[in-house]
Amino acid sequence: MKSEILRLYQQLPAYLSLLRRGQLFSVLAAHRQYVVQQRDRMAVFQEQCPEFSIVEEIIDRSSHGIQHADYQIAQFWYASRAIAALVPAEVYDIGSHRPWLIGVAAGLRLHTLDVRPPDLSVPTEVFHEGLAEKLPWQSDSVECLTSLCALEHFGLGSYGDPYDPHADLKAVAEMHRVLRPGGHLILTTLCTGRNKSFVRFNAGRVYSLGRLHEMLGALEVVDETFFSMPLQRFVSKSELQTQLVPHAWDIYFGTWKKPLQYDRGVGIGRGKDSTGSDG
Ligand SMILES: C[S@@+](CC[C@H](N)C(=O)[O-])C[C@H]1O[C@@H](n2cnc3c(N)ncnc32)[C@H](O)[C@@H]1O
Repeated sequence: MKSEILRLYQQLPAYLSLLRRGQLFSVLAAHRQYVVQQRDRMAVFQEQCPEFSIVEEIIDRSSHGIQHADYQIAQFWYASRAIAALVPAEVYDIGSHRPWLIGVAAGLRLHTLDVRPPDLSVPTEVFHEGLAEKLPWQSDSVECLTSLCALEHFGLGSYGDPYDPHADLKAVAEMHRVLRPGGHLILTTLCTGRNKSFVRFNAGRVYSLGRLHEMLGALEVVDETFFSMPLQRFVSKSELQTQLVPHAWDIYFGTWKKPLQYDRGVGIGRGKDSTGSDG
């Protein structure tokens, strides 16, 4: 029962997305029809293969299904491609839950950090339980740092981390500190086409591009790519959503480099938006 409630809860964003697109009821009706068809087949199976005991667990794997989050697959592709281009000796990741990292650890030494311990660690991984705001790694040491869809959550408490409204700025300062000159940061987070960031409290922040640039400050931008949630594809900057409603966010993928001549005096920006206006 508990796992059933958890499963429904995990599917909620996908259901809401279908509802917004006006597809929820047709998808649920099609699923109901599928379940009826599979139960008929199950009865036939029982007749034809009596040597098997049978329990019902009906799954539709024929399409992406409603649990599928295309943006996550897109971000894993983006980050894997960036790592493949950099060919680092090791990867350091912040906010590290989890399937993509297991794949990364298959070919590279991996250092991970999360406020929540992982269910499964792998032999090529060194996991640190801790906060992104206080990284356990040495200054100027990291060649390749990744953080996928985690920054926006830091300090908002929804993962059990302490409440700190400026935790994202502190985490970015730490990213700057641990990167070695010439090292790369591969960062994904939520973004808006608006000039002003917003927060879906306590689910996560949604950053304006101006704010991201201000925060990443003294690093050099190598690449920026955008993924649209309503269009479910890569888009240009001008196609990002601009509404101020709970689900109007898109995904930012960026690769940034710490310059060889890193100016500590510049450090990170305070994360201001590009203009004070709201649109
Ligand atoms: C949305 S998940 C992203 C997980 C993974 N990077 C991915 O893309 O699948 C955000 C992760 O950040 C972690 N997290 C949240 N606040 C944190 C904090 N202040 N310090 C370290 N990790 C934190 C959460 O525990 C969670 O694993």
